[in-house]
Amino acid sequence: MSCATESHAYVIFGATGNLAMAKLLPALFQLHCLGRLAPDVRILGCGRTPFTQEAWRREVREHLPASDPGPLESFLQRLDYLTGRLEDAAFYQALDVWIGAGECANNVIFYLSVSPELYVPITVGLVEAGLLAERTGWRRMVIEKPFGHDLQSARDLQHELNLRLKEEQIYRIDHYVGKESVQNLLVLRFANMILEPLWNRHYIDQVQITHAETIGVNGRASYYDRHGGATRDMIQSHLLQVLALLAMEPPVSLEAESLRDEKVKVLHSIRPLDPPQLASHAVRAQYAGYQQEAGVAAGSHTETYAALKLYVDNWRWHDVPFYLRTGKRLKERRSMVAVRFREPPIQLFQGAGVSAAYPNWLLIGIQPDDVVQMEISAKVPGEETRTRQISMDASVGNPGERKAEAYEALLMDVIQGDRSLFLRYDEVKAAWNVVDPFMHGWADDERPPLQYPVGSWGPKAADQIFGQADREWRQTLRCDDKPGGKC
Ligand code: BG6
Repeated sequence: MSCATESHAYVIFGATGNLAMAKLLPALFQLHCLGRLAPDVRILGCGRTPFTQEAWRREVREHLPASDPGPLESFLQRLDYLTGRLEDAAFYQALDVWIGAGECANNVIFYLSVSPELYVPITVGLVEAGLLAERTGWRRMVIEKPFGHDLQSARDLQHELNLRLKEEQIYRIDHYVGKESVQNLLVLRFANMILEPLWNRHYIDQVQITHAETIGVNGRASYYDRHGGATRDMIQSHLLQVLALLAMEPPVSLEAESLRDEKVKVLHSIRPLDPPQLASHAVRAQYAGYQQEAGVAAGSHTETYAALKLYVDNWRWHDVPFYLRTGKRLKERRSMVAVRFREPPIQLFQGAGVSAAYPNWLLIGIQPDDVVQMEISAKVPGEETRTRQISMDASVGNPGERKAEAYEALLMDVIQGDRSLFLRYDEVKAAWNVVDPFMHGWADDERPPLQYPVGSWGPKAADQIFGQADREWRQTLRCDDKPGGKC
C-alpha cells in the first residue's frame, strides 16, 4: 500500500468529553465529507470509559450531524477506541501498538482535550513510550486552553513541555482565532485602504469587544468554578486575541512568525493595571443562581461576567480605551467588535433635529451575524436640515456559502503544519501578564462579585468603567429608529 504524504493518525485524549464530541469529531467528519482527509487517516479516541469498537462508533454516530449513509459509514470505519488510565505506562504501550499497526502511521497528531492537570503526565507517558520522537515522520501535539492558570503556572508547563518536545511540535489552540469572522478582521484591516488612515488614536474614541452568551456553565460547573471564571476562560485567550488582531501593525507577511510577532507586540504594549485602579478598570459579577449550580463551591467568587478597560500604550493607540467584556447567561448570544469614532471638532448640525451629534460606529459582527456595518449621519429628506443616523451594512457571506467551523480550519492547519493561527508561548505569557493583576486584585478582595439577573446585559455597574456619562456599552448591531435611539 502506498501512503499519501498527508497520511497520519489522529489520537484524541479525552475523546468522550464534551469538546471532542461536540466539536472535534464533527469537524473531522466534515473534513472527511469534503474529501480533505487522506484515505488512510485513522482516528483513535482515548479515555477511561470502556467502549468496544462497535459501541464507540455508535456513540460517535449520535453526535454527528445527519448525513448520507455513505460518508457516515466510511468515516466511522476510520474510528478506533483505546481504554486506559492516562497515567499508566501500559496505556502508552497499547497506544504504541495501535500506532504501529497502521500501515501509514509515521505522522501522528496527539490532541489533548483533557483537564490541564493531565498535560504533563500525558507528555511524559508519550515520551517514555518513544511516541514523540520524530524518526520517520512528524509528531505534533495540540494543547487546548488554558495554558496554565496564571503566568507562573504557564511558565512551569512550558518548562515541562520544553524538556520533551520541540516548540515546532506544539500547537496551542485558540479556537476563536479559527473563526472565519475573526480572521476577517485581518482582511478588513489589511486588504482595504479606507480604514488604515483612520485606524489610530486621532480618529478612534474607543474600541469595544463583546462576547455574550445565553448559556450558563452547562455541565462543566466544577471545572469552570476551579479553573475558569470569565477572565481566565474567555478574556486571557479569545478576547485578547481579538484585541491583538485589531490593534496590531501590518505584518510583513501572513507567515506564522510574522503574524505572531505583531500580535505579541500589542500584548506587550498593554498598560499594566495599577492595583488601586482595579475598581475603575474592571467589573466582575456572577449570574443569579450560579451558586446553586451542581459542582460550584459554596460561597464561590468565580466570576461569570467580566469587563476590563485596557490601554495599548503604543504610538498608534495611546490613551484609546479598549473595553473587553464577556458573560454567561446574558440577554443575547452575540460577539462583536464596536469601534466608536471621535466626533467632528465643530457640531455644525447640532440642534438640527438632534440634541447631540451621532458618533460614527464601525461594527463587526463575529457571531451569530457575520456582518460589517458602518453608521454615519445623513440628511433627513425635506426642506429642513435635519440629520439622522443611517447604517451601511453588509453581510460578509453570500446566500448558500458555507462557513467553515473554527475547528475544521484549525485541525486542517495542524495536518498541514501551519502554525500561524496557533499561539506562540510568548503570546500566552504576555496575555497572562495582562490578566494576572486583575485576578490577583480580585483574589485579595473579600467582597463577593456583583450579581446580575439571568437574561440581562450584566451588572449595571459595568457602565462605570467608561467614566463618562455619554459612553456606554454597545449592546446591539441595530439602534432604535428614533433620534438618540438605544443601541
Ligand atoms: C470556550 C470557553 O473556550 O469558548 C467556553 O471555554 C465558551 O466557556 C466558548 O462558551 C465560546 O466559544 P463559542 O465558539 O462557542 O462562541
